[in-house]
Amino acid sequence: MKKHLLAPSLLAANFARLADEIDLVNRSEADWFHCDVMDGRFVPNITFGFFILEAIKRLATKPLDVHLMIVEPEKYVEDFRKAGADVITVHAEACPHLHRTIHQIKECGAQAGVALNPHTPVSILENVIEHIDLVCVMSVNPGFGGQKFIYNTLPKTRQLKEMIISSNSPALIEIDGGVGLHNAESLLQAGADVLVAGSSVFGAKDPEATIRDLKAFEAKFDY
Ligand code: DX5
Ligand code: ZN
Repeated sequence: MKKHLLAPSLLAANFARLADEIDLVNRSEADWFHCDVMDGRFVPNITFGFFILEAIKRLATKPLDVHLMIVEPEKYVEDFRKAGADVITVHAEACPHLHRTIHQIKECGAQAGVALNPHTPVSILENVIEHIDLVCVMSVNPGFGGQKFIYNTLPKTRQLKEMIISSNSPALIEIDGGVGLHNAESLLQAGADVLVAGSSVFGAKDPEATIRDLKAFEAKFDY
């Protein structure tokens, strides 16, 4: 059975002690660093850009999974790659030329991810699914950490898994928003391959133990 990946979201980390928080993830069982880039235009919040990402890259010993919640992401793909992104995820809603942007990401050597807002149907990916390395299913409206999980994500994940299997796509399914110990197992069961966890990890009394617990779940059904 394929083991799922866990990507703690640094959005919920203490940025005054960023090096310690990165260290915690380095020595934990987590697989990736999830880095949320927001521009105040695609989403109503602003986080960080290249400069902070480069600093994270210098300390991180695991891949950087960079979630671009920005308009016109195609303008910045190469710069985010240079800053250290291993996976670059753009929003389908922000890309009028999604097919081109996916290939642009791959050509600069990163893995290409596409994120879908909660209202965006899986069918939007029908003609590009075989080119995608990762689909990020947003289980909250993007922009903030600590929001409530939207349950429609479960049937949506199942539907996406069917599309991925029937099209022979290598894409992993990542779930982002409101993920924690209460829903991790049902998400894996629905077909999730990567769980992003912000406040449930960094807000926990013992983040390392929570990471261990989130990694310990298993889907009972093998895809
Ligand atoms: C939300 C971000 C998420 C966020 C998740 O727009 O894309 O990655 O950090 O945070 P939690 O896990 O607290 O919902
Ligand atoms: Zn994210």
